[in-house]
Amino acid sequence: MTIVLILVTEMLSQVSKEELPRPFLKWAGGKSRLIPKYHTFFPENFKTYYEPFLGGGAVFFYLYNQRPKQAILTDINSELINTYNCVKTHLDDLINLLIFHTKQHSKDYYYQMRKTVEDSDLKKAARLIYLNKTCFNGLYRENSKGEFNVPMGRYKKPNICDLSGLRLASRALQSAEIEVRSFEEVLNSASSQDDFVYFDPPYYPVSSTSNFTSYSRYSFHEKEQIQLAEVFMALAKRGVKVMLSNSDTSFIRNLYKDFEIHTVSAGRSINSNAKKRGLINELLVTSYSNPK
Ligand SMILES: C[S@@+](CC[C@H](N)C(=O)[O-])C[C@H]1O[C@@H](n2cnc3c(N)ncnc32)[C@H](O)[C@@H]1O
Repeated sequence: MTIVLILVTEMLSQVSKEELPRPFLKWAGGKSRLIPKYHTFFPENFKTYYEPFLGGGAVFFYLYNQRPKQAILTDINSELINTYNCVKTHLDDLINLLIFHTKQHSKDYYYQMRKTVEDSDLKKAARLIYLNKTCFNGLYRENSKGEFNVPMGRYKKPNICDLSGLRLASRALQSAEIEVRSFEEVLNSASSQDDFVYFDPPYYPVSSTSNFTSYSRYSFHEKEQIQLAEVFMALAKRGVKVMLSNSDTSFIRNLYKDFEIHTVSAGRSINSNAKKRGLINELLVTSYSNPK
């Protein structure tokens, strides 16, 4: 009897986990894996959530699952934001296009789609999801001209049209405002202690050989990191709750020396040589004291 009860509870918890919205795109620098380590650093009380470097939106979906809130989700990448908006407002049409891509999928079709320039927002969104689900490593990456240049991945049966995942994500996005904006524009809206801003910028490189800043055609170098620290400071002065992830480097530690800096084990390795591998740390900076 006890064993049956345990099994039923286990099955129910699996079902409810699967029914929670989560990122529908795999994105460079995605935070899904790190969220359990961030958990204790999120502020307890806020009304509006801002994510100015949206990417895959892992923190948005996580916070939504805790308690849905008003959210302002922004990123400089217009293809990405268009995809979110199509998932939010035109899901059925998008699903039809994804079913079409699923039927057509082959090596030739992948490379044909890779160079196609679509003529409508909906087709652009379907193309991005299709390439994201079928490309090598599942990562969206552009060259300096803004062209998608990732080779095809080796998935036997890629889940190009994840119906339930897309429906759950779409539902979660209904209460969100989703726009193309550069990060500093958050200064035009976040203004009080009811606001929580989470910054997850392209990371400052940990060494001269690592190149974490080239997510796309949008460069993010020292100048932008300094500008971001100024925005962080200005928001903190207004009483906004601000949190930021970045690499554990003296440059970043110095930029945020007036704030609380927490060290989080990133669970990934910095060295490609297995013998020299050690887990690297990342930084989490908060403008408020750890509430938990
Ligand atoms: C580290 S990723 C965010 C990852 C995200 N937190 C996740 O869990 O998937 C960084 C994002 O910053 C965006 N970005 C780069 N420069 C930007 C800028 N100046 N303003 C706003 N977003 C920018 C990129 O397009 C990219 O989506």
